[in-house]
Amino acid sequence: LTPDSCGIIIFGASGDLVYRKLIPALFNLYTRNLMPITFYILGFARTEMTDEEFKERIRNSLISVHKISDTQMVESFLSQCRYTSGEYNDIEAYRRLQKKAAGCDCDFTKKENKLFYLALPPQLHPTVVSRLSQSGLTMEGENEDPWARVVFEKPFGHDLKSALELDKHLTSMLNPSQIFRIDHYLGKETVQSILMLRFANIMFEPLWNQRYIDNIQITVAESVGVEHRGGYYEKAGCLRDMFQNHMLQMLSLVTMEPPTRFKAHCVQSERVKLLHAIRPWSERTLKDNIVRAQYVEGKVNNEDVHGYHGEPNIAPDSTTETFVGMKLYIDNWRWQDVPIYMRSGKRLSMRESEIAVTFKRVPHSLFGLESQHEMPSNILVMKIQPNEGVDLTIHTKQPGPKACMASLSLSFKYSEVFDTVPQDAYERLLLDCMLGDRTLFLSREGVEAAWKIVDPVLNFWRDHPEQAPLHTYSAGSWGPKASDELLLRNGHQWRNPPEE
Ligand code: BG6
Repeated sequence: LTPDSCGIIIFGASGDLVYRKLIPALFNLYTRNLMPITFYILGFARTEMTDEEFKERIRNSLISVHKISDTQMVESFLSQCRYTSGEYNDIEAYRRLQKKAAGCDCDFTKKENKLFYLALPPQLHPTVVSRLSQSGLTMEGENEDPWARVVFEKPFGHDLKSALELDKHLTSMLNPSQIFRIDHYLGKETVQSILMLRFANIMFEPLWNQRYIDNIQITVAESVGVEHRGGYYEKAGCLRDMFQNHMLQMLSLVTMEPPTRFKAHCVQSERVKLLHAIRPWSERTLKDNIVRAQYVEGKVNNEDVHGYHGEPNIAPDSTTETFVGMKLYIDNWRWQDVPIYMRSGKRLSMRESEIAVTFKRVPHSLFGLESQHEMPSNILVMKIQPNEGVDLTIHTKQPGPKACMASLSLSFKYSEVFDTVPQDAYERLLLDCMLGDRTLFLSREGVEAAWKIVDPVLNFWRDHPEQAPLHTYSAGSWGPKASDELLLRNGHQWRNPPEE
């Protein structure tokens, strides 16, 4: 699994994502001997910093924030890190970058693979890619030997039109095989295990369709607010931030057809096919099947917290949504008329992400219940985070002379069974990128298909705000009442996970 030698060049190296996610992920790969035998990490950003100052930031992040105690390992990792500053559109800065890379202490006599990571706002992506290409840095050898790959962070555009333009620009400078679009949810262990659960066990797939499944719920609840990301979030909102990517990707994994092989193009194309099968919105469903809301002050974990308007860098009259709940349908043989409910929001009751598949009730009640409607359902819950695991509710006889039924759960937690914490999503994705495995990355078609679902909603909200009111919810709740009512209309209710 060890990748070939490569240089990792991080653009936006003074930003928060780098110290929160990328550097710890690279460090963990390093400690697990999953980094190339020779590599360097070269930070690039506008902020002027010496190599030493860059290393100090990394040291501080690893030791003070991520509580790494093995300082010797940290110092050994740091010896591979360098930094150079410059303006993103200044071609001279790229020459300096190239020189700095050449001076790095690695043996590149055989190969000079490069991984460029753009931890930058999307408006800078075209500039950086143009300059990289002009300076010859993204040039690959024959048969991608050496390779040059560019990793992009979401958002991929602001809407369908801008996503298409961005893509046109990128593909005029790079080969499609050089472009790696990250959706970090696809790198989460439990998200990956959805496919394993579905396709490595014979008992689920025969029931995985509209004959036996009553509804599916996907919840990604966060207890944090927008934190220091107000500037970005004001322009994005929950629909762009969570649905265009993470939510729709999880939906596609739970509902797609089995790919013929576990290879990037097979898996990606099944994901895209599923997104294309989502029932297009009508004026009625845009109005009735989607709820948007914003949090007001409340209590989270017993602490008073501000409402969205009280957060830094938020306009006092902002109408940006921090919660979205929706009901949608998939028009194909497998899923016709099965309601799919999805919700995500900030400042909800707790951090909890899960996918719950509720099966239909048995057709006839034998056990003395008044009607079959009193029979509880079987529910399969895939717990994505934070207590990663799987939980299946089944019904059994309660011990005793009467035919009393008890519902219990067959469940396991990854942390208990495997005696290890799941690998961080970025770790997996960075490793896959170095190895050239695109299975867990987004394809161009996947990004466009997702925008085609989200775009009509954004347009409807913009053009008919009176028909799509912005509801409010108290911080620390499970969202607005309107989101509960959305399900009640079908006789369903959200599965609010009990506190552990
Ligand atoms: C990011 C969003 O993509 O995902 C954030 O921009 C959100 O707003 C985050 O908080 C959630 O990721 P995770 O891995 O913490 O569930």
